[in-house]
This record gives sequence, structure tokens and C-alpha cells, in this order.
Amino acid sequence: MGLNVEGIRKDFPILQRKLAGKPVVYFDNACQSLRPVQVIEKINEYYKDFPACGERSMHKLGKKVDEGVDKARKSLQAFFNAKRTEEIIFTKNATEAINIVAHALDLSKGDVVLTTDKEHNSNLIPWQLLKEKGVKHEVVEFNNLDALNDKLTKNVKIVSMVHTSNMDGTSIDAKEMIKAVHDNGSLFMLDACQSAPHKTVDVRKLDVDFMACSGHKMLGPSGIGLLYGKQDALSKLKPFVVGGSTVSESTYSSCDLEKPPHLFEAGLQNYAGIMGFGAAADYLKKTGLDNVSAHELRLNRKITDAVGDSVELLGPKNPELRGSIFSFNVPGLETHNVAVMLDEAANVMVRSGAHCCHSWFNAHKMLGSVRASLYLYNTEEECDVFIKELQKIVKLLS
Ligand code: ALA
Repeated sequence: MGLNVEGIRKDFPILQRKLAGKPVVYFDNACQSLRPVQVIEKINEYYKDFPACGERSMHKLGKKVDEGVDKARKSLQAFFNAKRTEEIIFTKNATEAINIVAHALDLSKGDVVLTTDKEHNSNLIPWQLLKEKGVKHEVVEFNNLDALNDKLTKNVKIVSMVHTSNMDGTSIDAKEMIKAVHDNGSLFMLDACQSAPHKTVDVRKLDVDFMACSGHKMLGPSGIGLLYGKQDALSKLKPFVVGGSTVSESTYSSCDLEKPPHLFEAGLQNYAGIMGFGAAADYLKKTGLDNVSAHELRLNRKITDAVGDSVELLGPKNPELRGSIFSFNVPGLETHNVAVMLDEAANVMVRSGAHCCHSWFNAHKMLGSVRASLYLYNTEEECDVFIKELQKIVKLLS
């Protein structure tokens, strides 16, 4: 069964509006998706109906918060097929989730961490800066099993890889990588920011030790993300950010630490964000991720067929290998200029620049790209607008 895109669009208030007299063509979904009313109402419900503390207050409003957080944790457990709710830790975003692992794993001098050459800064800098502790960070080519195997030594403690690149939409064969890493006795962390919104990420089938993702790329609120940690892997983490909620008891000189997830959820939480994230996961699950990815591919194929040869495409020509992303350069034009021209002409909203992947662009002596990224509410008609405006820009230079 395909997507009822017209029905879906009605759930997204911004798609009912016009800016400067024209509809919004939102193709910046890899940065942040739009939110349906189901998520917006869930956020409002918290602030209107029970704006209180979770995990500590015995009154009726406090209990409602606890119920809402538990429900959201269960929704996300189901969404990622985690074995236990305790394995789902709410964070501010994926960046925070990766930082928790990078610091709480307590790596020391001589330990090695591997990432790929296509990492977002959020899966690069936290590992890179561990050099202050004598930890070595090395880079392997994206989705190259032989290159990974060459680097897997006994000193490699963790391999942290992006699942789907935010830059060009290509994906790694995660299962194959994870097996190689486990065969070496190392831990594996998956940055699923760009895959979780579009395809099934089954943490048990993949057998990841840790996984990070952000709510705001998968219909959820900004300022909420999660860290999945397999129970065993979480037990290897030392406390990192601590304080309220992370202990059950304390004296002036000692404390009893809580267990995960609370050990890693210090202080008052973003309750509205957590509940909104749960609603977003429920919405995507109901819609069906297979339907979402098939729809995006259809749109990406349409764009690629129409203008793929008129621009410098990042990544392979075959849209099946780029999912929802069409990333490109118009020779002779700066990426930001292209983005502004598309926006000014027809409210076509794309991202431009280095997409927080400066390392890859620097290595390839490029400044960046223009990136159109699609999602479940985008339409063929919107693609037509994008194609038409991009053709006009390309023609200007011919
Ligand atoms: N990582 C986000 C992007 O690619 C911010 O746009």
C-alpha cells in the first residue's frame, strides 16, 4: 500500500500556509523535518494539562508526566525493537548521545577509535578530541569492509559509523560492518540520524551496541534525541553528567548511583519533547517506513532523471543508493547562492554548504554542496517546481 500523501500533508500546518503568496516546498528534511499536528498537540498537552516534574513528585500531575514519559519510551523501544525500555536513554540530540558514549566509555591512552571518512562533525569531533587523553582516532573509508578489517587491531575499543550520510544519502552495510567489529571484540556505535527517519533500524537485528538519533529529523520536536545502548554495553559506561535523578541516595561523601536509563538522564528532562518524540515514532510506525522510503525514492528518481546530468551530483547516479537525498553543485555558482535563488524564486528550501561534514569536503577540495532532501509529505508537483527552478539557474550559466 502506498502513501496517502494528500492526507499526510493535511497533518502538517506549515504546508497549509503560503509565504510571499506561494506554497512552501520544503526540501530540507535531512536538517530538520516538519512536524504533524499529532506531535504538536502532544507537546501542547504537556504544557497545558500537566506541566510538572517527572520521576520525583507524588501528586497527580507528576504521575501524568511519568506515564507520558514511560509511554514515549515504550514507543521508541518498539520503533527500534530494543529488548528493554531501560536501553532507551533520552538525550538533547544525537550529538549529546555520541558525546555520552565518547566520554563515559572511559577510554585511555593507547586505545583506538575508528570512524568513517563521511562523518558529521557530531560523530567526528567527540572522538577526535579524545587525543588529549592519548586516545587515537583513525578514519576508514565509508562502507569499505576491507579498509575496516585492515584497521581492526586489538587496541580498537569502539567503531562509530554513520549509517546514512547526510551529505550524499549513501548508506553503509551496517550488518556486515558490525559483524567484523564484533569479531574483533570491539564495540560498535551507529549514528542513525539520517536512516531512522526513513528505514527500519532494528537494533537487535543489527546487533549494535550503541545507536544515536535525533527527534527533529523524524517528525519529532527539536531538542530531543536518544541513545540506545544494549544492556551489556551500557554497563561498560561510567557516569558522565550526574546530579539529580542519577542517584537514589547521597551523603556528603558518597552516593548510590541509579541504573540506566536514569543514570544517564541527569536533571529535569524535556518532558514535552520526550512525549512529542514518542508521538512522532508512533506516526511513522503507523505510516510504515517501507512506504516512506519507496515514496522518497520515486521522487528522487524523478529529480535525478530530469536534472541529474545538468549538475555535478554528489554520490552515485542511481537514486536507489541515495535514498531521499539529491546533493549537487552547479559549476560556477556558490552553494549558498543556489539555495537563496531557489528560495527566492519559489520557496524551494534546501540546505547548502558543508552540512557539518567539513572534513570530507576539505579532503576532496570542495566547499560544499546544495542538498535537496525529501520526506513523506513531498510531492511530484513540488519536484516539478524544484526541477524547473534549477533548470533556470543552470541555464543562466550556459
Ligand atoms: N545534520 C544536519 C544536516 O545535515 C544538521 O543538515
